[in-house]
Amino acid sequence: PIEERIKDLVNKMTLEEKTLQLTQQICGLNTNKNNIGEAIKEIPSGIGSLIFFSADPVFRNSIQKKAMEESRLGIPILFGFDVIHGFRTVYPISLAQSCSWNPAFVEKACAIAAKESVLSGIDWTFSPMIDVSRDPRWGRISESYGEDPYTNAVFGVATVKGYQGKNLSDPYSIAACLKHYVGYGVSEGGRDYRYSDVSRQSLWETYLPPYEAGIKAGAATVMSGFNDISGVPASANHYILTEILKNKWGHDGFVVSDWLAIDQLIYQGVAKDRKEAGLKAFEAGIEMDMKDNIYVENFPELVEEGKITMDQIDEAVSRVLRVKFRLGLFDDPYTPVLDEKDRILQKEDIAIAQNLAEESMVLLKNEKQVLPISSSIKSIAVIGPMAKDKSNLLGSWSFNGKAEDVETIYEGLEKEFGSQIQLNYAMGCDFDGSDESLFQEAIASAKKSDIILICLGEKKEWSGENASRSTIALPVIQEKLVSELKKTGKPIVLILSNGRPLELVRLEPQVDAIVEIWQPGIAGGTPLAGILSGRINPSGKLSVTFPLTTGQIPTYYNMRQSARPYDKMGDYQDIPTEPLYWFGHGLSYTTYEYSPVKLSTNNISKDQKLKVEVTVSNTGTKDGKEAVLWYISDPVCSISRPTKELKHFEKKEIKAGNKVIYSFEIDPMRDLSYPDSTGKRLLEAGEFYVHVNNQKIRFELL
Ligand code: IFM
Repeated sequence: PIEERIKDLVNKMTLEEKTLQLTQQICGLNTNKNNIGEAIKEIPSGIGSLIFFSADPVFRNSIQKKAMEESRLGIPILFGFDVIHGFRTVYPISLAQSCSWNPAFVEKACAIAAKESVLSGIDWTFSPMIDVSRDPRWGRISESYGEDPYTNAVFGVATVKGYQGKNLSDPYSIAACLKHYVGYGVSEGGRDYRYSDVSRQSLWETYLPPYEAGIKAGAATVMSGFNDISGVPASANHYILTEILKNKWGHDGFVVSDWLAIDQLIYQGVAKDRKEAGLKAFEAGIEMDMKDNIYVENFPELVEEGKITMDQIDEAVSRVLRVKFRLGLFDDPYTPVLDEKDRILQKEDIAIAQNLAEESMVLLKNEKQVLPISSSIKSIAVIGPMAKDKSNLLGSWSFNGKAEDVETIYEGLEKEFGSQIQLNYAMGCDFDGSDESLFQEAIASAKKSDIILICLGEKKEWSGENASRSTIALPVIQEKLVSELKKTGKPIVLILSNGRPLELVRLEPQVDAIVEIWQPGIAGGTPLAGILSGRINPSGKLSVTFPLTTGQIPTYYNMRQSARPYDKMGDYQDIPTEPLYWFGHGLSYTTYEYSPVKLSTNNISKDQKLKVEVTVSNTGTKDGKEAVLWYISDPVCSISRPTKELKHFEKKEIKAGNKVIYSFEIDPMRDLSYPDSTGKRLLEAGEFYVHVNNQKIRFELL
């Protein structure tokens, strides 16, 4: 019946009504709350979608009422917004989430975000971002699930499931949007909005897989990227938007352009004017024009000239209407209006944000077991610009997040240690600049304390869109503060809050322990304090490699091997080849022992499955959660493969003294095949290896 209703509506629509459905404008950015009537007047009643810069359900309903009652056909508006890592209950940035290796938590957190969004008037989020990101200079790495295609796929799917629920028409479901299709993370030199040279081989093996998984999981919409793909911008790219996404994968929702991405085709050198840009984007497969108004302005002429047919427009409009029908907007266009206290920041939802923050924090270094803080410690110097900071812990893209909701690091410590441990706070320095006047106070508080907790990192504006950095080191002032504190001889624990991997080459040798807390959102204080006290055993592992220096970029675990791996010179004359921390690195307060891996057989045929199993024992004294990461490598192929590729992971709790079995069933077509540059999967017989922890076991595909 949905398809019949769509057909029926499209048959009744005028060209103007159709192009408006293909248009997205913004509203609510500077709306005066006391005069929303004025704001509503400017919104066309037949508009397809609005980016809703408001959290007011009454405002939404008034706009929607206009669409339902004043437009000729009563088509509801689709309200979209960037709900990226939570709505008001802001949880950790995506890069942090994937370090939890716990997609089930991520799904729960996204379901909370969906509920808060619905109750604030939003039907559609521009999330997840599943751009495989291997250049930490690029600010948007913070929005991705890291450097690995499989990890991006798994967390992307969890996100889609969380937002969309079992059914898009469920009351608290919102539509997801896979972005930025595709290859945006390849932007040259980590600069934003720049050319990206992506070969078809890399497209198929690295950048497309998360999208294919997201489409299979039912993602309702897709957003095209700002980037170029080897000369054909993503937003004018028929191959990726139509041939792959729609024809091959069968996506039947719609594609929205990114903000002004159609107009930008002019600057990217493939369109001479706005009209041609609109034509190219539409022909390539973009149904909805975000913010450009190019479709509305130019379609009448393009149709008149025979460059666009009515059938093409009808097909595009049908896709937009299909998503609106699936969301149930035609039957229930309005948002329930609840008191603010009932729609956001529910206690149980904050608990989920806390769980996710806890599992996404990564213990990078812990020498002489300086952590957890021993019972002999009576005073802690809590130093650094991040210690009492609220707003930066929110991370970028947290429009509805409020600093007042954030629990600071210091507040978490106060709660955890109460009156048992004296906290001696000093800011020490600002995030950047060269003012050293606060150093002395910090040194004084360090001197009167047993241990130093130095809380450093990045401001939230330093990552996200258009927030690339030429160096991934922290500003000199922060590094200098650590050097000064080191002179006190006290043990130092470095707490880092940042939106990208950092260059820690000068900091790491000076400190005894490092805890990476990322940008944890509103509820990071308590989990961090729990990790410091030992109440919580850290279980995060990196989903992205920390290069040793900025010049070592790119460094990611699944690189191809060097043609001279035996060459002792290494990659560079002046630095080692190894990064500081590899993908998968993360320490715990307990010790895990992996049994030798058991294989169900050593030789399999292409239609057989191979079960691999490992028993992990918690040989320490603390309960813990261990994420086991399974990789596969294929040393000889017609098209060379990465040194190893992640194929499966699982995180389980293991009580102290207990053991747990982890297993993985290798499906040759899924796990041993690889794509060629046309996307055709090749499954080649020969030797393979399965890697887990530090074991590497051979098997053969017959
Ligand atoms: O969703 C975002 C996108 O990621 C970057 N440009 C703006 C869009 C809408 O706000």
